[in-house]
Amino acid sequence: MRIAVFAGDGIGPEVTEQAVRVLEKLDLPGLELVEGDVGGAAYYKHGHPLPAETLDVARSAQAILFGAVGDFSCDHLERHLRPEQAILGLRKELGLFANLRPAQVFAGLEDLTTLRPEVASKIDLLIVRELNGDVYFGEKGMRRLEDGRRQGWDMMSYAEDEVRRIAQVGFKAAMGRSKKLCSVDKANVLETSQLWRDVVIEVAKEYPEVELTHMYVDNAAMQLVKNPGQFDVIVTGNLFGDILSDQASMCVGSIGLLASASLAEGTYGLYEPIHGSAPDIAGKGLANPMATILSAAMLLRHSLGLEAAAARIEAAVAKTLADGIKGGDLGGTAGTREIGDAVLERL
Ligand code: NAD
Ligand code: IPM
Ligand code: MN
Repeated sequence: MRIAVFAGDGIGPEVTEQAVRVLEKLDLPGLELVEGDVGGAAYYKHGHPLPAETLDVARSAQAILFGAVGDFSCDHLERHLRPEQAILGLRKELGLFANLRPAQVFAGLEDLTTLRPEVASKIDLLIVRELNGDVYFGEKGMRRLEDGRRQGWDMMSYAEDEVRRIAQVGFKAAMGRSKKLCSVDKANVLETSQLWRDVVIEVAKEYPEVELTHMYVDNAAMQLVKNPGQFDVIVTGNLFGDILSDQASMCVGSIGLLASASLAEGTYGLYEPIHGSAPDIAGKGLANPMATILSAAMLLRHSLGLEAAAARIEAAVAKTLADGIKGGDLGGTAGTREIGDAVLERL
């Protein structure tokens, strides 16, 4: 059981350290953790945000635990050298096309979200975000128009097989939950979305038990704060899923709580919090490590088949919150390590 641990930049190393402590505490037979450099940290050390050695480590492992990448001191670099290319490169190189981002309200946090408690308490949803296509991976560039104006451009596209395989993941997830799937697109404006919608409707024929609905992304953003309890599984493209999942995190209290799994065909996966490197609080011991700890739980479940161990971690995090131990992101005073300690005690 070889796990690659890529901590990255900013709060990445701080939150990853706590998740590693949790994994080690479980004392799983045969568990081996191997580190690798990614992001700005890798750029400053090796001249590239995703060095070949790191990719080799990733390929030699069964799964990756990932912290975060992003360093404003690298924002002037050519795009292919920027820290974010590490996570984008891993997703593409390793075929991690299915991104699962669950969001549910923890007991005791109902009053701490930015929604009214009676609205927030109903949230239990899963965003299934496509991760290998869309405007993220299309051709892009900066050019000069004939009249001298600069123009930036990015090509948005989905091929039908790309939509079909993520739709399958969405329908399967819905079958394992309450059999409701909402596909989010912008088919009223974008051809990319029209194809998305057509293909999702085709795939729906294979899942007659699932109730499929479609929603435009602008309405979905509104409904997510108006009545998030109406959603169960949401399936959407790369860009819309990125935005809606940050929004969903605040609906349940904090971005420091949302974990994610990025899966390839089979059991290989990368697991990371949905948040970034949070440069504004990095190095201060203030980051909430729960999203990363919960990502480690998803890793045990999806890539190693260790359901019981995963459930133990999730229960320990839930108990920590129910006991009132909260980071600054939730209006509490506990620091990163203190939260890690509290979760370990409850394990
Ligand atoms: P961010 O998610 O890093 O931070 C947004 C806000 O949330 C900040 O105020 C931050 O302090 C807070 N926050 C985030 N995680 C937290 C935690 N665990 N505990 C407490 N507070 C937390 O987003 P950003 O500021 O837009 O981006 C910062 C950098 O991170 C950028 O370089 C961006 O590209 C990168 N980024 C990387 C990933 C990734 O590695 N997968 C994801 C998102 C953003
Ligand atoms: C995320 C992040 C990434 C994304 C960035 C860092 C490339 O925001 O994982 O949500 O946009 O996918
Ligand atoms: Mn994001």
